[in-house]
Amino acid sequence: MSTSVSSGGEPLAAPTAPAPASLDAAGGAAAAGPPPVPVLEARGLVKTFGHVIGLRGVDLTLNRGEVLGIIGDNGAGKSTLIKCLTGALQPDRGEILLEGRQVSFRSPLDSRQHGIETVYQTLAVSPALDIAANMFLGRERVSKGPLGLLFRKLDKRGMRAEARQQMARLGITTLQDMSQRVETLSGGQRQAVAVARAAAFGSKLIVLDEPTAALGVRESEQVLELIRELRRQQLPVILISHNMPHVFSVCDRVHIQRLGACAGVVSPATTSAEEAVAIMTGAKQLVAQ
Ligand SMILES: Nc1ncnc2c1ncn2[C@@H]1O[C@H](COP(=O)(O)OP(=O)(O)OP(=O)(O)O)[C@@H](O)[C@H]1O
Ligand SMILES: [Mg+2]
Repeated sequence: MSTSVSSGGEPLAAPTAPAPASLDAAGGAAAAGPPPVPVLEARGLVKTFGHVIGLRGVDLTLNRGEVLGIIGDNGAGKSTLIKCLTGALQPDRGEILLEGRQVSFRSPLDSRQHGIETVYQTLAVSPALDIAANMFLGRERVSKGPLGLLFRKLDKRGMRAEARQQMARLGITTLQDMSQRVETLSGGQRQAVAVARAAAFGSKLIVLDEPTAALGVRESEQVLELIRELRRQQLPVILISHNMPHVFSVCDRVHIQRLGACAGVVSPATTSAEEAVAIMTGAKQLVAQ
């Protein structure tokens, strides 16, 4: 979606931590049912790049079993926020809590080891490898017995069987042959492999950065259905997207980034996509409730 306001690279004023206009859906507390259980929380994240301020004191809460959207104009700080949450960047200030415990990830691998799987927009799949090999990339299983022990012979059969089970568990029916090379798959199928891999190993939560940006209507719908399936399986998801219909069709709450700060958190149940875009661009401010 093309939007007009951008902080793109422009030096901004000194960091402050403006209280985001509050937030009918900040913790989902207004919703009926049991109180939300935070899985990931960020408080007061600040990240600067020289004179450029990426984040100016951002709070974020991801609750158990929910899909949290992150929207915002170009340069609003979405990627910086995600990078700080997943260890690709270290925030200058602020704290991050995973299941209530303070964490400080030194790298994306560090966050992976803590159960956070991130699917970046530039998909980290290896086209020349098959589906199963991609699923287990960096976590290859070796055969049991001496060949595995001595020569690290890969347990291809075992990995394919497990990859097949994972696809079935997620209801991915378009991928049948786990020995098919990823370069022969469609964009949507590749995205499905990346999301399935994240779901297989992301024990705590999954972050998807623009997963439908390069996809057609049908393929996008498959990825959205996959996200719904993850929610059914109680795995929380953070979804960054410029596509409002997608965000509003799958997300339980939507975090709106604007000029490096959180301009509000809204619920698609009570806020329309048009209103969210107005908040995102500064045309409208969220009124405290
Ligand atoms: N490595 C960096 N060095 C300098 N400035 C940076 C760096 N990374 C991000 N920024 C700046 O921080 C701000 C936030 O950038 P960020 O990439 O988080 O935006 P975004 O919301 O992801 O935008 P987009 O929708 O275009 O991906 C921008 O002003 C950007 O220019
Ligand atoms: Mg970005």
